Amino acid sequence: MKQSNNQTILVTGGAGYIGSLTVKQLCDDGYDVVVLDSLENGHREAVDPRAQLEIVDLADLDQTEKVFEKHKIEAVIDFAAYLAVGESMENPEKYIRNNVINFIKLLHCMKRYDVRNIIKSSTASTYGNPKKESDFPLIESYQENYQPSHSALLPGKWKDKELEGEEFFQEIITYYDFFYKSIPDFALSQADITKLRIPTSVYGLTKLLDEIILEKYNRILGINWVALRYFNVCGASLDGKMGEDKPKPTTLMTLAIWSLLDKIDKLQVFGNDYPTKDGTGIRDYVHPLDLATGHISALEYLLDGNKSAVFNLGNGTGYSVFEVIKAVEIASHKKVKYEIKSRRSGDPAISFCDPRKAKNILGWRAKYNLTDMAETAWKWHSKHPEGYNGG
Ligand SMILES: NC(=O)c1ccc[n+]([C@@H]2O[C@H](COP(=O)([O-])OP(=O)(O)OC[C@H]3O[C@@H](n4cnc5c(N)ncnc54)[C@H](O)[C@@H]3O)[C@@H](O)[C@H]2O)c1
Repeated sequence: MKQSNNQTILVTGGAGYIGSLTVKQLCDDGYDVVVLDSLENGHREAVDPRAQLEIVDLADLDQTEKVFEKHKIEAVIDFAAYLAVGESMENPEKYIRNNVINFIKLLHCMKRYDVRNIIKSSTASTYGNPKKESDFPLIESYQENYQPSHSALLPGKWKDKELEGEEFFQEIITYYDFFYKSIPDFALSQADITKLRIPTSVYGLTKLLDEIILEKYNRILGINWVALRYFNVCGASLDGKMGEDKPKPTTLMTLAIWSLLDKIDKLQVFGNDYPTKDGTGIRDYVHPLDLATGHISALEYLLDGNKSAVFNLGNGTGYSVFEVIKAVEIASHKKVKYEIKSRRSGDPAISFCDPRKAKNILGWRAKYNLTDMAETAWKWHSKHPEGYNGG
């Protein structure tokens, strides 16, 4: 183990899937780590024993302040959020409250305790559903250049009413305004609102709103930030001892593995008639160990005094649904049973990022490929079919 470098990093959501692997890497690199997690979706067993765990919900401002009071925190890495796209369309208020309002509470504590640096988990969902081939690979300035007049939100529920697009969007903006309109610094400008029309899900919208709030905090209060937009995250620790443990996973690779472990009936493939090499959708995948090093590179970048920025974290290569299934079959030596369903509305044929900004500025690049993701994920899930609670 390396010597402590005496810098304490607060990791919110550090008992979750990506957070716990990042905590381990931070401990390996000699950082002192405090994990703040409600354990609502995280696991005590996933937290590295070298880190201190504070079981606190960010909704509880007093308890969160106590964590800042107790530890001398140098920087925050914020993973705490809800992330189920489908649920965010059914229960948008839950997502705005946790992903936005609780996030603002965290920033409030940072300001109060003079913590000036934060790395924020963002997502590819902030890109919505780009339509033009020339939009790919996706670059970080996409949201600055694309200015839609109507929201791309898919239909969703607002207080038991099914609403579509712009109407749904307006309810969400009104809800945010209810809390922050009276604070001019946090009121949304017309340019902010235009940008927020890009995501197709409430989940994606909350993450883009967090990026906008960070810009405001930077301008007004001098808090420095990096937002990392990750693409589809798959894989586990190399020894297969740490991995994704969610009651209802939504990622393709996990579902393919769960079908092999009889945890779900059959894998569903949505669309085999896309204009792609094998007819299935193409996406960018990234290993959580690469995300861990990405966060530490971003942390060092901020601690060196560099300016706030957004970076994509992805492989920059698209893999098709069939390629992911094949990789799982090779890793497991089993045949995945799947059924073809029609395309889901709002799913683009192809989506992958340009990770060159992270390479050029942070010196980061993804090291693990699809084979590594499938092998490590299979090792974890097949050895721990019940996740951490299964021992
Ligand atoms: N997993 C992915 O594919 C993916 C892709 C893109 C972005 N992200 C982002 O990465 C982050 C981590 O994702 P994950 O897959 O590790 O999710 P996860 O659910 O495994 O981890 C999130 C953790 O945050 C904790 N948490 C949530 N709300 C909290 C609150 N109010 N107070 C304290 N703790 C709270 C949960 O208990 C959980 O341990 C999220 O912000 C997510 O939006 C994930």
